[in-house]
Amino acid sequence: MTSVPTRLPAPSEPATGEAIVDWYATAARDLPWRRAGVDAWAVLVSEVMLQQTPVARVEPVWRAWLDRWPTPSALAAASPAEVIRAWGKLGYPRRALRLREAAGAIAERHGDVVPADVAALEALPGVGTYTARAVACFGYGRRQPVVDTNVRRVVARLVHGRAEAGTARAADLADVAALAPEDDARAVRFSVAIMELGALVCVAGTPRCPACPVRDRCAWRLTGSPASAGPARRVQKFAGTDRQVRGRLLDVLRAAEHPVPAAELDAAWDDAVQRSRCLDSLLADGLVEQTEDGRFTLPRG
Ligand code: ADE
Repeated sequence: MTSVPTRLPAPSEPATGEAIVDWYATAARDLPWRRAGVDAWAVLVSEVMLQQTPVARVEPVWRAWLDRWPTPSALAAASPAEVIRAWGKLGYPRRALRLREAAGAIAERHGDVVPADVAALEALPGVGTYTARAVACFGYGRRQPVVDTNVRRVVARLVHGRAEAGTARAADLADVAALAPEDDARAVRFSVAIMELGALVCVAGTPRCPACPVRDRCAWRLTGSPASAGPARRVQKFAGTDRQVRGRLLDVLRAAEHPVPAAELDAAWDDAVQRSRCLDSLLADGLVEQTEDGRFTLPRG
């Protein structure tokens, strides 16, 4: 028997995207914001929360948030203090204030309906290239390349043969768009599928290549999986950083029913210089407010 010679699809063509979509059907996590019927507001909230926080920590906060504020106008009517409290310990709490501002803009400019158009989305406070496309694609089923760090790493390896993603490049969106299947519904699936591939298989450091649906055509593997040329990845530390101290100070204010005197914040962190620097930065970010009598509180709006 003669076998028909086959040609491997180039890593950058739609057939590669099709294989990734097929893999997603078998391997995807069942995450609540991916289910049918989740509206664009819920998608926007999920994307803002997921940008710097792991899925498991986001899920309960996302559910509680949408129960409480099911529409943009509902969130816009909340005080900053309520919003910062509800953000809980997701971290990077400026995101909560920006989301509230975006909700106000959606209520005012868009009749309380999250826009579907990428340009209108990008004009909202705190909504950048990634979030705008994620909402258009996952919230409205529009064909859009959605490029987060995980996707950039997949493209760096699969298409360009580089070990790690490096910094964002203008061509990232076009690289991802070139991989998308022709069919629009499959292209939408592809956008979440390639994110999932980067999150579960083509992970930073040592990827799980045996589980990869496109390992046969991966430019990085085909050139012998060369090590990263760049500096070693820095693991973000948390202990002792200003981020930790800001979190401790906010914990005290979140738990307090009334404005608290500075002495109560002293207990949150021993190093007075660092504590004071962090309190100043929280005040500058609008995450903390000082009352006329010198006590501190979450902003009452
Ligand atoms: N599904 C859709 N967007 C996602 C994200 N940002 N993280 C994880 N799963 C997602």
